[in-house]
Amino acid sequence: MNFYELNEKRQSTRKYDKDRPIEDEKLGRILEAARLSPSACNGQPYFFTLVTGEKKNEVAKACGGMGMNAFARDAYALIVISEMPYVKSALLGSKLKGNDYRSMDIGIAAMALTLAATEEGLGSCILGWFDDKEIRELCSIEGAVRLVITLGYPKDETIREKKRKSPEEIYKIIK
Ligand SMILES: Cc1cc2nc3c(=O)[nH]c(=O)nc-3n(C[C@H](O)[C@H](O)[C@H](O)COP(=O)(O)O)c2cc1C
Repeated sequence: MNFYELNEKRQSTRKYDKDRPIEDEKLGRILEAARLSPSACNGQPYFFTLVTGEKKNEVAKACGGMGMNAFARDAYALIVISEMPYVKSALLGSKLKGNDYRSMDIGIAAMALTLAATEEGLGSCILGWFDDKEIRELCSIEGAVRLVITLGYPKDETIREKKRKSPEEIYKIIK
């Protein structure tokens, strides 16, 4: 699969084969893909906590509420992305330029994780709806939880058509 095919194939998977575990080598390669991500001043202001088993069920519950994310429980693994402190240069840059580089760095790492999962034949979904305090307690995490990624073998391999704004609405080229 080349990058463009991979990018088309990645989609938010919300139905998982809950009886099929993910091989450890695949989980390792996916985490490595995130570790190699670029970040502001190479500060790598994140930490990844991968949970499976009973702990995963507890974290999945903390991603619920108001009818959201019930599918997370059927995922084999959840990757909790928490924020780590800025390195000095990125902190300075962020203050001077008024830019939240840590959230960007975390978003980039999340993309690496989900594309790597797709390459491994897995489904994934990025979750932004969760109880930060509860997940921190469950996983003994110090930094704020910013995203949770669900991972598992998809129940249905059909690739949906992507609903996106038109090219005109989303980019322009100035020569
Ligand atoms: C920062 C972020 C937070 C998201 N939070 C959730 C969530 O809590 N629950 C959910 O089901 N999907 C969530 N999504 C998935 C989006 O709904 C999804 O990416 C978007 O609709 C595009 O669909 P696609 O991923 O299938 O291409 C989130 C995505 C991002 C990038």
